[in-house]
Amino acid sequence: MPRPIEALVHADALAHNLSCARAAAPDARVWAVVKANAYGHGIERAFEGLRAADGFALLDLHEAERVRELGWRGPILLLEGAFEPRDLELCSRLNLWHAVHCSEQIDWLAAHKTHLPHRVFLKMNSGMNRLGFTPIAYRSAWTRLNALPQVDEISLMTHFSDADGPRGIAQQVEAFEWAARDLPGERSLSNSAAILRHGLKNDWVRAGILCYGSAPDFPEHDIRHWQLQPTMTLRSRLIAVQQLKAGDTVGYGSSYTAREAQRIGIVACGYADGYPRHAGTDTPVLVDGVRTGTVGRVSMDMLAVDLTPVPGAAIGSEVTLWGRGPLGSLLSIDDVARAAGTIGYELMCAVAPRVPMHLAAAA
Ligand SMILES: Cc1ncc(COP(=O)(O)O)c(C=O)c1O
Repeated sequence: MPRPIEALVHADALAHNLSCARAAAPDARVWAVVKANAYGHGIERAFEGLRAADGFALLDLHEAERVRELGWRGPILLLEGAFEPRDLELCSRLNLWHAVHCSEQIDWLAAHKTHLPHRVFLKMNSGMNRLGFTPIAYRSAWTRLNALPQVDEISLMTHFSDADGPRGIAQQVEAFEWAARDLPGERSLSNSAAILRHGLKNDWVRAGILCYGSAPDFPEHDIRHWQLQPTMTLRSRLIAVQQLKAGDTVGYGSSYTAREAQRIGIVACGYADGYPRHAGTDTPVLVDGVRTGTVGRVSMDMLAVDLTPVPGAAIGSEVTLWGRGPLGSLLSIDDVARAAGTIGYELMCAVAPRVPMHLAAAA
């Protein structure tokens, strides 16, 4: 009998969330961002729900191969471009579009032999200081690229550092528009937060986290506000129940002490499954669809939950760590992430390989 923990991916929710991106950016084409193995959901599983996208954006070349193996003939964009010159061979072979963010990548293209000129996305560093040409250097990079026979169409791209927060995007948009003013080519600026919060003109938007049912600007807004649906459920079962007396402690370090008599359940889920170890007492969890909280420290394979609001719970009761619970109950991954001092992105990417993950049956 395997441990009762499993993760489910909801293709219907992925499709719904993608349609939210379309509704928020009706004139744009939508890249479904599927990097990091589709934010931990698995490329193959996520593809089921995201196949209505106009293209798939990712950065690992093996992931690009996997998308092609799924039969996708449309656009695929390598968000970080080539990591070394020979990556361009795969781009030619699989017709991958790719970012160009530094002059070395232009040198590699200039030396690349190909019959098929490449579609490239020239990346501007408009203020994030991660990848891209500064606004000052952007136009000469464009001119160099434009002169190469290896290059077909040049699109213009940048990435926002603060689309989810009070600093906003105005400064970066201004820098981008100044450096890109009269350059031809399609534009791609918006990530999830920019799509949902800022009505910006884009030819291509890059929808990542919103596809996966996490609010990009949580806690200012939650998924209900953006009408997004959870796309991943992590669930397990109670494998033991303990009756505590006042003064009893729970788990390593005895970090939790019962103030009165209390029933707790022990769940087959721990940090070796990808559950955050820093989730303290009271991190939300559903037992039989009823919201309660964790107690004490998360250990490698187990965690404890308060059963006070669920007196009928017993060994075998279903525990929803995040996602869809029984009887229409829901627990947003963002609520769990906040309690653990992290973000939904990190939790969904961190589900451990030992947790069996599969597509949920259609709701
Ligand atoms: C270049 C680029 N575009 C788009 C995205 C998608 O961002 P989000 O998941 O916030 O929508 C990312 C993710 O980090 C990215 O690196």
